[in-house]
Amino acid sequence: MPFIRESWYPATWSSLLGAEPMARTFLGEEVVLYRTEGQVAVALANSCPHRFAALANGKLHGDSIACPYHGLRFGPDGRCSHNPHGPVTGAIRVRAYPLVERYGMLWIWMGDPANADPATITALSAREDARFDWVTGYLHVEGNYQLVIDNLLDLTHVEFLHPFLVDPTDTFPTKVICFEEGDEVVSRYTRPQCNRTQLVIALWDDVPPVMSLMAEMRWSAPSNLIQRNGFDVAHHADMDDTYVQVPFCHLLTPETERTTHYFWAGGRNLKQGDEQVSQAFTFGVEGAFKNEDEPMIADIQKRMGLRDLLEMKPLLLPIDKSAVLARRRVADVLKREQV
Ligand code: FES
Ligand SMILES: [Fe+2]
Repeated sequence: MPFIRESWYPATWSSLLGAEPMARTFLGEEVVLYRTEGQVAVALANSCPHRFAALANGKLHGDSIACPYHGLRFGPDGRCSHNPHGPVTGAIRVRAYPLVERYGMLWIWMGDPANADPATITALSAREDARFDWVTGYLHVEGNYQLVIDNLLDLTHVEFLHPFLVDPTDTFPTKVICFEEGDEVVSRYTRPQCNRTQLVIALWDDVPPVMSLMAEMRWSAPSNLIQRNGFDVAHHADMDDTYVQVPFCHLLTPETERTTHYFWAGGRNLKQGDEQVSQAFTFGVEGAFKNEDEPMIADIQKRMGLRDLLEMKPLLLPIDKSAVLARRRVADVLKREQV
């Protein structure tokens, strides 16, 4: 199955790329990430054109990376900058990928570099909103990225899979609506009444035993999901500033057909700057993703093998509407890219 190529994908949180080169696979292609002396992040093909050694195992020399086998060096534009065995020619080069640093993330363009317009990086405005304090994390998922999108666009699983995020004894009803808006597919959950949860208790000192909750997940191609969650004493028609807000970003990059890089960020507009709360928040959220979602997705991937989900004719429920809409849009983009 091919991947959407003409798009920006998250490569790594900026803070995770330090002085050492980093090897990563995106859309089945091996890439090396490193920083120049001026701290500019660079992405090159992680394969020396001479005998295909991994450049990520080499050393940095100024702004260039040296192949660990016979010492060819390549600069940020992929051109050879030093050849110990003869002249430097234009033919000695590796592919350089456009890479942009924004929202604390390095974004890589895997398609035609001529089309790489940074203005098309998905907007994460909440990440720049001064009201929110953020924690971030990374998870390697043993499953196709579309299974992760299915998981995130159908949060009715939270009740069954995540005791930290929902009180398992809660029997109040949830209203779910799924719809398309512009380039986005949206799942919206409204619970005018619900039991308070462990996550909310950790953030909000005066939370009543029964509160009101709104949650909304917005997907845009290929695999960016922005989530808003709001909690209040009483229900409002829309999520306004009086709500306790816990926004999330879920940013996915296919690694291979069966594995995914999953970058997440969780914000809060309460107890900002409280390190202990940040740690508890990270621990709780990471635990849910790592110990509950990931094993479920990995098991499903194993059971599916290389079969396509829709070709397996799964039972489709009303809660699947968003996931199916997103899959259709991915298929449309792929079709357009292959013309
Ligand atoms: S394999 Fe890289 S210089 Fe020979
Ligand atoms: Fe989940």
